Amino acid sequence: MAVNICGTGSFIPSHVMDNNGIAELVDTNDEWIRERTGIVRRHIVDGETTVSMACEAGERALSMAGISAEEIDLIVVSTISSNVVLPCAACEVQKELGAVNATCFDLSAACTGFVLAYNTAAAYLSGGIYKTALIIGSESLSNLTNWRDRGTCILFGDGAGAAVLRADSRRMYVPVTHSDGGKGSALSLKSRHDRNVLTAGEYSGENHDYGTDEYFMKMDGKAVFQFAVKKVPQAVREVLEKNQVRQDEIDWFLLHQANKRIVESVAKRLGEPMEKFPMNIQEYGNTSSASIPILLDEMNRKGMLKPGQKIVMAGFGAGLTWGASIVEWM
Ligand code: COA
Repeated sequence: MAVNICGTGSFIPSHVMDNNGIAELVDTNDEWIRERTGIVRRHIVDGETTVSMACEAGERALSMAGISAEEIDLIVVSTISSNVVLPCAACEVQKELGAVNATCFDLSAACTGFVLAYNTAAAYLSGGIYKTALIIGSESLSNLTNWRDRGTCILFGDGAGAAVLRADSRRMYVPVTHSDGGKGSALSLKSRHDRNVLTAGEYSGENHDYGTDEYFMKMDGKAVFQFAVKKVPQAVREVLEKNQVRQDEIDWFLLHQANKRIVESVAKRLGEPMEKFPMNIQEYGNTSSASIPILLDEMNRKGMLKPGQKIVMAGFGAGLTWGASIVEWM
């Protein structure tokens, strides 16, 4: 697509819970979690909200881009865990940043959300409708986590990542996206609240009373794992073919950070070395739509992204949804 990422930002809550902390809540241990997922610790909101983290990440991205809030035409916040239902998180971000000229809306596509936010903004920008967009993935998944379920509570964490996009006259890359609502029960959540039982000190083991199961994510871990390792390599090949880009032209594969073994399996199926698949899951766990922009921002700030490099961003998750997009770095 004819867009340029001209700034990135992220925000990570300072409260850390390592695997030993999880082992105090459920029957698990550090070794099992590291081996099966690659996760060592995760950061959990302690006073921060999905909106406040989105604002911090967004501000940092704008500051890097050297763009004022008034210049933003579009704000898209991808989230499944906003602390507000109405107004949408994107409008709350607009208010905080003073982005008075922006059109704002949220996007709900779970762990594929940032890729879809990028595609949505890029479509508006390359269609000539807007010139400048701020896209953000922000999640407080710890609010939606059942801390009695060892099959899910080991996986998730909180944080936010953002990117500023500008319309650009270079080559346009067409994205690949798919959905399979028929398999939605593999990862589901009926309702949500924004109380965090852990950091609010309300958790009291087996006997606590902080709501019914409808407030927590339910997951068939094996089904999600199998879906991801099959569909992500297919989507990557499809997006390369569609854009007539050779696989060896890709410098980085930025996958949604769900499980180290998923990333390793995708790399193996594509026949690519792990060096091209950066990971930060060990530090943050799975932060859903925030995982790709947090990783992108970390790489950007470390100077790992060079002008002319091509990146494939690939997301997958609840819905089921999945997709891949090619980004050319400037
Ligand atoms: N600690 C210790 N043991 C655990 C455990 C835990 N947290 N969770 C499960 N186990 C046990 C199981 O009870 C089972 O024991 P058994 O063999 O005696 O029955 C054994 O470990 C293997 O369980 P299994 O469910 O087969 O593990 P797994 O290798 O599939 O790993 C996940 C479980 C959740 C880590 C893995 O399925 C996964 O990551 N799936 C993808 C989830 C995901 O990424 N979701 C988000 C997508 S966006």
